[in-house]
Amino acid sequence: MNKKEFLNLGKQPIANGFLTEGNFNSEFFYDLSVGLDEDTKLVTHMDYVKPELMFNDTYAYRGSMSKTMRDHFSETSELLRKHLSDKPRVLEIGSNDGVFLKNWDKDTTIAVEPCSNFAKETNDLGYLTYDGFWTKQLSETIVEENGWMDLIFAANCICHIPDLDQTFAAIENTLTDHGFFVFEDPSLVKMINENSYDQIYDEHPHIFSITALKTILERNGLTIVRVDNTPVHGGSNRIWVQRTMFAKPDESVENNLTHERIIGLDDPYTFERFANKVSDSKTDLVRLLSRCVDSGKKVISYGATSKSTTVFNYCGIGPDLIQYITDTTPEKQNKFSPGVHIPIVKPEGNFDNSVDFAFLGAWNFAQEIRNKESEYTGKFITHVPVVRIV
Ligand code: TMP
Repeated sequence: MNKKEFLNLGKQPIANGFLTEGNFNSEFFYDLSVGLDEDTKLVTHMDYVKPELMFNDTYAYRGSMSKTMRDHFSETSELLRKHLSDKPRVLEIGSNDGVFLKNWDKDTTIAVEPCSNFAKETNDLGYLTYDGFWTKQLSETIVEENGWMDLIFAANCICHIPDLDQTFAAIENTLTDHGFFVFEDPSLVKMINENSYDQIYDEHPHIFSITALKTILERNGLTIVRVDNTPVHGGSNRIWVQRTMFAKPDESVENNLTHERIIGLDDPYTFERFANKVSDSKTDLVRLLSRCVDSGKKVISYGATSKSTTVFNYCGIGPDLIQYITDTTPEKQNKFSPGVHIPIVKPEGNFDNSVDFAFLGAWNFAQEIRNKESEYTGKFITHVPVVRIV
């Protein structure tokens, strides 16, 4: 790759590495800087964090914690079924706690998951789950033991994998002739337009454009045949791919490529402008939170997200500005947030009307949260697309 750096988000910890007090001194930090690969136009980290440091048997993120995501995967499954035969063989890469799997038949659906705690959970549910990283070798074992797949699905997973060529080549080996590989990941268009720089953290070594994916997929015998722009996770793309020999792209592919050309996703200047906006966002957020605290207000954060790890560490926001974070995930409660060590507590008894301002760490679930917290009399603060009280 021929990468040119455009953004540095400073020293960052493992985004989902929630800790106890005893682990503060041994916490791992790395330098988070992002570049544009001049050959493929891929937006990618300058250096990658070792996957084993992030995806292991203590992985804390549970996909099924929000109704938005449970509904999203049930609707996505309905849509996919319309394009498949009656009893399709399905493989999910990165199945987490089974939020997508649960919509499919146990006899014909298998999974790959490197976080052993979750691989065990979905094996116990009855879905054969290979506990490991997606590699060429594992793909060969899967084909040998289960045959080729009619659908390979991956949500918020492919952008986690540093080596895309190996990943796509292994997928190409595993698909039936007319099979679909469908994957969803955060959209670079959305990140640039919404200034949502917190999509960038260790687990997201790449933020995908269709432009970059087209080049990398095609050199591995795969072609994009359809792109759906979806609102989940602050704006994602669902990308449908087939073997090049059998692919008939629809107009959504060219429409997305044209839009990306128009907004300049292949132009280094677009990324310089983005970096300047990110720096302004930091100044504005720290000033707003400081003014709230200086006025004697109680400020907390809602949702201990990986995105908020980026924000808090980049902006230097710690317990002096945010008293605590509430989160519904049992694995995160009674721990401390990565890097800046803000306490994480369960919402019950902690998210009430004694709170004046709640920073939306989970801004991508703003609607769900507002519906759920309709009795809350305080205000929310967000930084997307600009820092403001909402
Ligand atoms: P995500 O943005 O990476 O999906 O993480 C969302 C986090 O926010 C996850 O830890 C669950 C938490 N959360 C709450 O605590 N309450 C909520 O109402 C919602 C929607 C999410």
